[in-house]
Amino acid sequence: MKNFSTLIQCRRSTRRFTEELLTPEQTASILKAALMAPSSKNKRPCQFIVVEDKKMLEQLATCKPHGAGFLAGCALAVVVVANVMESDVWIEDASIASIYMQLQAEDLGLGSCWCQIRNRQDAEEQDAAQHVRALLHIPYQLEVLSIIGFGHKARANSPLDESQLPWEKVHIGEYQLPNTQEV
Ligand SMILES: Cc1cc2nc3c(=O)[nH]c(=O)nc-3n(C[C@H](O)[C@H](O)[C@H](O)COP(=O)(O)O)c2cc1C
Repeated sequence: MKNFSTLIQCRRSTRRFTEELLTPEQTASILKAALMAPSSKNKRPCQFIVVEDKKMLEQLATCKPHGAGFLAGCALAVVVVANVMESDVWIEDASIASIYMQLQAEDLGLGSCWCQIRNRQDAEEQDAAQHVRALLHIPYQLEVLSIIGFGHKARANSPLDESQLPWEKVHIGEYQLPNTQEV
């Protein structure tokens, strides 16, 4: 187990996985993290569709032309959906649940990557969310935010380089305009 600072420094997107499957305990830990994520007014509008079937993973990987291909090679994908009638901030709630799962995976030594679905289109320029909804029989009141792919890392990721952090994005006390003057 890593301490939290190390965990967030080491979590990098993993898009290449080994063939090894996750244990039921690993999958349960990831789902537990999703279910423990906070939500606005504690409304908990999110639901999670667990996909381990290789053929379905391959089909999900075609939900958009770029950035979804890695899903075909992962051991587990969790499709994060939310009921838009239950919360007006379902995007925030579903995003927090998504990253909670990614951090839990890292803590287990597993790799993960976020596949963006909301506001994306498939190869036919149809809504990627609709593509996923049709594959998994998701009812219309549930919007699809993301698919998070998990698996054993094919190779270790390099941790984020602390010396490269964009500190200019941090403003102390009040917003500071960027200094555009040449010196
Ligand atoms: C909201 C969001 C959407 C993302 N969508 C995709 C995606 O569709 N496909 C993909 O391969 N990676 C996706 N990523 C991963 C980012 O590309 C990645 O986090 C970023 O390049 C930083 O790299 P790192 O995660 O290794 O630190 C997404 C990440 C976030 C937070």
